[in-house]
Amino acid sequence: MAGRHLRQDGAVVLVTGGVRGVGAGIASAFQNHGATVVTCARTEPEHPAAEFVRCDVRHPGQVRALMERVLDRHGRLDVVVNNAGGSPYASAAEASPRFHDKIVQLNLLAPLLVAQEANAVMQRQDSGGSIVMISSVSGRRPSPGTAAYGAAKAGLDNLTASLAVEWAPKVRVNGLAVGMVRTEGAHLHYGSEAGVAAVAKTVPLGRLAEPEEIGDCAVFLASPLASYVSGATLLVHGGGEVPAFLAAADADHGSTHG
Ligand SMILES: NC(=O)c1ccc[n+]([C@@H]2O[C@H](COP(=O)([O-])OP(=O)(O)OC[C@H]3O[C@@H](n4cnc5c(N)ncnc54)[C@H](OP(=O)(O)O)[C@@H]3O)[C@@H](O)[C@H]2O)c1
Repeated sequence: MAGRHLRQDGAVVLVTGGVRGVGAGIASAFQNHGATVVTCARTEPEHPAAEFVRCDVRHPGQVRALMERVLDRHGRLDVVVNNAGGSPYASAAEASPRFHDKIVQLNLLAPLLVAQEANAVMQRQDSGGSIVMISSVSGRRPSPGTAAYGAAKAGLDNLTASLAVEWAPKVRVNGLAVGMVRTEGAHLHYGSEAGVAAVAKTVPLGRLAEPEEIGDCAVFLASPLASYVSGATLLVHGGGEVPAFLAAADADHGSTHG
């Protein structure tokens, strides 16, 4: 059995959407642990912090070309983090079928496509590989304003469990159900700095996550320290949401939520 450690020396890691936001934190965490990181997105960044390949992960031909490029250049693929995802706000009553189609494609079908291509490579490697899906707490609770996104992330968690069974023992498949993260885009979701601060107070840990903290959890799941973990989705949400009834009720619940 490989040594029990978090180090990723010699590992080749693909992080989809790894150029900004949560993905940049994930890419940087793997680099800090010694991995060679390849990122992809539709838009090439001006100053890429890691090797970059342009790819729209919803397109099978582009994903196949991405995998070929990684193999040509590095000869192996040890870890894939399916991070590219997200959704703008849209009322479910009014959003178009095309909008919903695109959201499900990006957040559910693209991770499946990338995972399929990665699995084909990893099954041929003696050491197999590890796939990490970046999911969301939106898949675990109502997701008003991003209903299709929440449904797609719920589907992604189920996909994680199914793929882990189909592709064992060579490939482990796990996920992170991520809570609110302080990214460059946080203001789009939560408004001004005061809005972000107010939102942070709703989290038991009192703050939003830093992107690298999500990255550290992905490193753990991909590492030999998690060698017996597969099919799991780890909640990384700072303690989650305090049940709303506690604020509304007038019984004495002590001072912790006051
Ligand atoms: N931010 C949060 O608070 C939060 C909370 C829970 C879960 N998450 C999850 O974390 C992941 C990243 O979220 P984020 O907030 O960091 O998003 P973000 O800032 O919008 O970054 C998304 C990244 O994915 C790339 N991307 C988008 N569509 C793509 C496509 N079709 N093909 C290839 N790359 C694509 C983007 O680059 P291009 O646009 O150039 O392609 C970008 O690099 C998502 O899966 C999201 O659901 C985020």
